[in-house]
Amino acid sequence: MRLLSSLLLSAAIAAPTALAAPTHKMTIEGDESNGTISRHIYGHFAEHLGRGIYDGLWKKDSNGDYIIRDDVIDALNELGVPNLRWPGGCFADYYFWEHGIGPKEDRPTVVNNLWGGVTEDNSVGTHEFMDLVDELNTEPVVVGNVGSGTVEQMANWWQYINHPGESPMSKLRAENGREEPWNVKYWGVGNESWGCGGNMRPEYYADLYRQYATFLHGYENVKPFRIAAGAAAADYHWTEVMMERAGDQLDALDLHHYTIQGSWETHKGQAVDFDESDWYELMDRAMEMDELLTRHIKIMDKYDPEQRVWLIVGEWGTWHEQEEGSIPGFLYQQNTLRDALTASVTLDIFHQHLDRVKMANIAQTVNVLQAMILTDGERMLLTPTYHVFDMYKVHRDATALKFKLNRGKYRYDGGTLPAISATASVDNNQRVHISLTNIDPNQARTVEISLKDLNVEGVRSGRILTANEMNARNTFDAPNQLHPTEFNGARVDNGKLIVEMPAKSLVTLEL
Ligand code: AHR
Repeated sequence: MRLLSSLLLSAAIAAPTALAAPTHKMTIEGDESNGTISRHIYGHFAEHLGRGIYDGLWKKDSNGDYIIRDDVIDALNELGVPNLRWPGGCFADYYFWEHGIGPKEDRPTVVNNLWGGVTEDNSVGTHEFMDLVDELNTEPVVVGNVGSGTVEQMANWWQYINHPGESPMSKLRAENGREEPWNVKYWGVGNESWGCGGNMRPEYYADLYRQYATFLHGYENVKPFRIAAGAAAADYHWTEVMMERAGDQLDALDLHHYTIQGSWETHKGQAVDFDESDWYELMDRAMEMDELLTRHIKIMDKYDPEQRVWLIVGEWGTWHEQEEGSIPGFLYQQNTLRDALTASVTLDIFHQHLDRVKMANIAQTVNVLQAMILTDGERMLLTPTYHVFDMYKVHRDATALKFKLNRGKYRYDGGTLPAISATASVDNNQRVHISLTNIDPNQARTVEISLKDLNVEGVRSGRILTANEMNARNTFDAPNQLHPTEFNGARVDNGKLIVEMPAKSLVTLEL
């Protein structure tokens, strides 16, 4: 008897304490909208960096020529790429477009000093990029060189790509095999001009911007949508100066903000080898996006109350120490469930600022930073972040619904973060979609949703992305470890939608 009771006692001690899932109330206002979720918020970015272009989107064929990689294109087309930013990034302000046209054997090689000091042979230039754009059926966002190029060079590139009639550049384009203009409207006038794009003060760049932008002439087939280099993260002075001095001449400001753990100066965090304190820190940093957008938008509102100028987040995503053994400067990193949930939280934040945020570009599409796809020779895998974009596809071009949400608290080591993040939208077919993220890695949570003014009969389908391990990921040996699965944890009960969210999970429901 004594033995039995002591066995029972030790079993009770050893049993994990199953915490009751706290309930979070959410009310979706069916008749109140936050605006349309522009599909361009789901934009991508491909820079001549590491294995993003060469050995990423392109591969060498048996003759040694670069060809677009079909498997990568198929996966991206499955996802849908609304826009693609190119050729950089920092590379844009080093790039001379004239090097990337005409017969390949005549194209000069240059050194990509910024990214690994590798030789860039200009195999992928304007025509090749526009072929990719065709294959992806996407909208190109071209970034011109202000940092080291001339006004004439940028104006000529614009003319080469877009001029519909007879002109020196359209003639050259035709000689290189393309009669028709490509009609590229989204045009970046420099990149990160406060840093790798020239280390300029905003006062100086504002004037340069005005000058370069002046020579992008609209034609009957296309008018330029002029994107100025925006601030680095919390540099509000940059936004103030740009709006004051050039606000009337620009269509968008391009803010860049990366989610890092640790510091830029010493070292950043690891992509895979991390603990809960690193998890917490990265989530915390991802959530900074909300304050950044709020404060930049407040400044923009002062100069542009009509909200004509877009705030683009032209580079965002997680940036970790690059993978050990990968080529220095190539920014190759793995991608785990943690990256995925920072992405869903960030997309939710964008959806709260739709009056201004109409475009964003995650950095970068293949093999660089928070990529959608990783490749290794002929092998390819889809990252957890790819799956987030896939699960959020339903929100593109839909109307964002307003909601109130008790986000609860994820507590770690004396700090707290909102545990639940969400997006709700209704599409053109009146289908309601709700995405919920539980960033808490330990605690399951229940979300109880009142669907005010929404005529919902039940849950049509649901998908979930989750795993037991915080650093769950796909590898080339096990490429399909982490992917969305069917979710059966939601039900309508007494007019309320009850969603049982496991710890560290993302759920998307169709009602
Ligand atoms: O995405 C990598 C780099 O980060 C880009 O080239 C640059 O614009 C930013 O600093």
